[in-house]
Amino acid sequence: MLKNLSLIALAAALAVGAGYAKQSTVKVVIPITRTPATNGQQMFVAYCAPCHGVDGRGQGPVASALKQQPADLALLSKSHGGRFPSNHVVAVLEFGDGNPARGGTAMPVWGRLFGTMDQSPTQSNMVAMRISNVSRYVETLQAK
Ligand code: HEC
Repeated sequence: MLKNLSLIALAAALAVGAGYAKQSTVKVVIPITRTPATNGQQMFVAYCAPCHGVDGRGQGPVASALKQQPADLALLSKSHGGRFPSNHVVAVLEFGDGNPARGGTAMPVWGRLFGTMDQSPTQSNMVAMRISNVSRYVETLQAK
């Protein structure tokens, strides 16, 4: 059982479609390997940095292939009156940043992806732990 699930997690990959002009579509595939749920930094580097950059400023290696530019995560506190908006970040990670008016977004729904990573009776706690630890790490990246 455990073996099967870790295989699924290791095989998981993010496919991000980016429209170019009208005809061609570029597909960026970000492989997702399982990292410890307790390590926010490791999760950030593995799952977020491809788009948001290791410093969170939005200049990750695949950013230029995206139609919609990744947010500058270091400005979250600044744009929220000087307080890190952890509830907002947790909600975006859990449910996605889909804005129907904009036809959705390239920002993956992490709650769903994290849900495939751990096999345990307390699985939803593991998802919450991952989200909380990633959010706390993003807080450490805030511009002063
Ligand atoms: C495939 C590229 C991609 C990956 C990978 C990705 N993001 Fe994003 N993210 C985006 C884009 C694009 C936006 C901008 C969406 C928008 O403006 O609606 C965004 C927006 C966000 C926002 C909302 C910012 C705001 O101003 O409200 C947060 C928070 C965020 N990302 C955190 C993360 C974290 C944490 C991870 C890793 C677990 C991650 N993202 C991984 C592309 C990505």
